[in-house]
Amino acid sequence: MSFPDGFLWGARTSSAQVEGGFDCDGKGLTTWDARATHPDHCSFRYASDFYHHYKEDIALMAEMGFKAYRMSIAWSRILPTGEGEVNPNGIAFYKNVFQECHKYGIEPIVTIFHFDLPQALKDQYGGWGDRNMIDVYVNYCRVLFEAYKNDVKYWLTYNEQNMLIFFGALDMSSSTSKTMNDLYNEAHIQLVAQAKAIHLCHELCPDAMIGPAPNITTSYPKTSNPVDYIAAMNMDDLRNNFYTDALCFGEYPKSVNHYFALHSIVLNVHDGDMETMKTCKPDFIGFNCYGNDTTEYLEYSVQDMSAFAHADVRDTSYLMALMAKPGVGRAAHNEYFPKNSVDGNSYDPYCIRVTARRLTERYHLPVIITENGYGRPDRLEEDKTIHDEYRIEHLRETIRQMEIGINEGANIMGYCPWSALDLVSTREGITKRYGFIYVDRDEDDEKAKTAEMKRYRKDSFYWYQKVITSNGATID
Ligand code: BG6
Repeated sequence: MSFPDGFLWGARTSSAQVEGGFDCDGKGLTTWDARATHPDHCSFRYASDFYHHYKEDIALMAEMGFKAYRMSIAWSRILPTGEGEVNPNGIAFYKNVFQECHKYGIEPIVTIFHFDLPQALKDQYGGWGDRNMIDVYVNYCRVLFEAYKNDVKYWLTYNEQNMLIFFGALDMSSSTSKTMNDLYNEAHIQLVAQAKAIHLCHELCPDAMIGPAPNITTSYPKTSNPVDYIAAMNMDDLRNNFYTDALCFGEYPKSVNHYFALHSIVLNVHDGDMETMKTCKPDFIGFNCYGNDTTEYLEYSVQDMSAFAHADVRDTSYLMALMAKPGVGRAAHNEYFPKNSVDGNSYDPYCIRVTARRLTERYHLPVIITENGYGRPDRLEEDKTIHDEYRIEHLRETIRQMEIGINEGANIMGYCPWSALDLVSTREGITKRYGFIYVDRDEDDEKAKTAEMKRYRKDSFYWYQKVITSNGATID
């Protein structure tokens, strides 16, 4: 059997998208609590109310056989203004969550930051563009490492840092845009902050492991034309390797210099920054991988994003526009992806196999899949069953390829698809669901305030239970 003993089967969630309890017990507001969402969608304020249901939710995860639960901590629950005074109720909440996990032999894999920046830090520093954020973030990490050094063995520094930069030129919620120069300087600051956090974790929690959690999908070239092949390599450098090379090698890939010159990007690197990164030594690489990245060459031209400033967040055309990187490449259709036999949507079951092999070869570190999955509306039947065969098929084929990847040498230590239970999508409300566990609520926030939010097991729940019990041997 290919999946090693101790393989970390589990799933994941994030604080802003699952917890609710946005103003409970001293929590400060986050940029996500304040965020304007589409009028047809719920806010993030009540989410799936994990804050009050965590015992029931973790019991359901245990019933599925989880070995790990990847979650994130809401920074402003611990430090309501992002810095300064610690909120003892916040510390206690996550302590209880970790204890509940350990009761069932589930290892928490804890993301320190998953999008929900304390609003006070946004007000005080304007966000990650300010170098003070390095110390502010490291201070937050210190509070976590000291509080939870006996509870947490696996830490992740930052969720999808690279996507916040890759798609970050346009902030859809505030209709503001940033220059590429601002963005890549933010990225550098975030990387120095993460490197310092990795050093600190090794000092304070010598038995723990820590790594980053970018979204990595290796680019396929659109055609066998070498121009497309090189575009795909350069896209990998810009989208992926820029972030992981910095933390693993203490350097940025050279091919990005060309893109930086074209877009007038100059990194403000301080003395010692690169050395801090070179010496921080992550213990593993976590990566989110949904698959679907194919690149064709795109010549340089000036990009005008203004047309998208007031776009509907559900409209993927703005994502496509942001994915175009003039001078490097742009996303292209890939005709070779299979179609899901249930709903006819294309998906890429190979993404983890390809990407995990590439990461293993490049960094000689173990990897863990920190996200992967299939979101779409589910139907709660009258008898309270949910038949999500489309999700099972998607995950099954991905796991099949992942197993082959392990046999080919990919050093994968765990799989945590998105998501353990239904939660609020970043762009598409609660209607777009990813969970193994159905959460009975709709887009109406007023109702959500007092809703029971009952949990129901989907068909994928029972299927994943068999996968885990058999350590991946039974996937059909
Ligand atoms: C990942 C994020 O990029 O994709 C999650 O880390 C997100 O926070 C997930 O929810 C799915 O994306 P969406 O937009 O469907 O919620």
